[in-house]
Amino acid sequence: MDDFKGRLTKDGIRIHDTDGFAGMHRAGALAARILDDVAPLVFPGQTTGVIDAAIEHMVEEAGATSATIGYRGYQHASCISVNHVVCHGIPGPKVLKDGDILNIDVTVIVDGWFGDTSRMYVAGKLGRKAERLIEVTHEALFKGIEAVRPGNTFGDIGHAIQTHVEAQRMSVVRDFCGHGLGQVFHAPPNVLHYGRPGTGPVLEEGMFFTIEPMVNLGRPETKVLADDWTAVTRDKSLSAQFEHSIGVTATGCEIFTLSPAGRFHPTWG
Ligand code: MF3
Ligand code: CO
Ligand code: CO
Repeated sequence: MDDFKGRLTKDGIRIHDTDGFAGMHRAGALAARILDDVAPLVFPGQTTGVIDAAIEHMVEEAGATSATIGYRGYQHASCISVNHVVCHGIPGPKVLKDGDILNIDVTVIVDGWFGDTSRMYVAGKLGRKAERLIEVTHEALFKGIEAVRPGNTFGDIGHAIQTHVEAQRMSVVRDFCGHGLGQVFHAPPNVLHYGRPGTGPVLEEGMFFTIEPMVNLGRPETKVLADDWTAVTRDKSLSAQFEHSIGVTATGCEIFTLSPAGRFHPTWG
């Protein structure tokens, strides 16, 4: 038993109603706006700790709550993953240098609803290989999003992402996945970014989840550092990630975390 509205499917995935969509749009819009507003703070010489402190302040100013502070002992309002860091990079004294690429991942709680999104940024000048990696990763997220409609399966989403990435001779990380969310941070199902068509749970209207592919220029294997959070590519190759929170509609999906400024790529907008 729990206090949340909406039935659970046989896979344990909650089906939300229009109030849920409204709540998720409010939470998603704040998370996305924070990612817009943080962009000017990314430059060579800046530390990831200062960027995180600014994000924590923005969450407070909005009267919202950070979902990550206090989550399993995590102490920051964002994850900031630089270069070969795949995800869960811990903000701190690390100084950004020219050409560094970084993912900033923010999750906020607004009126009990969770908005979870991440994007890529660059400090200074974006290198050609890094730009290509970032482009392919963003395209892969949208290939996944385009596969979202009732009747399709989670395997269809993963397959669309994997096919696009591997056609570019890049690799999809398998050690981390997207997740259901709503009035909780991490709920069923695990949203894999690889897979076979027609496999996995069937998508239904009212499901909320993230898609958040991590793509490496080299091999897909990762390892977690001694801090128990920072995940890096084993071969030290560059890694990129984009994340949206979405809700399944009758005909496709709504993206809760679109950039209000239309700013979703380090060199666009
Ligand atoms: N926002 C991350 C996700 O996409 C989770 C971060 S958990 C933290 O699921 F504790 F590392 F912040
Ligand atoms: Co997420
Ligand atoms: Co996230």
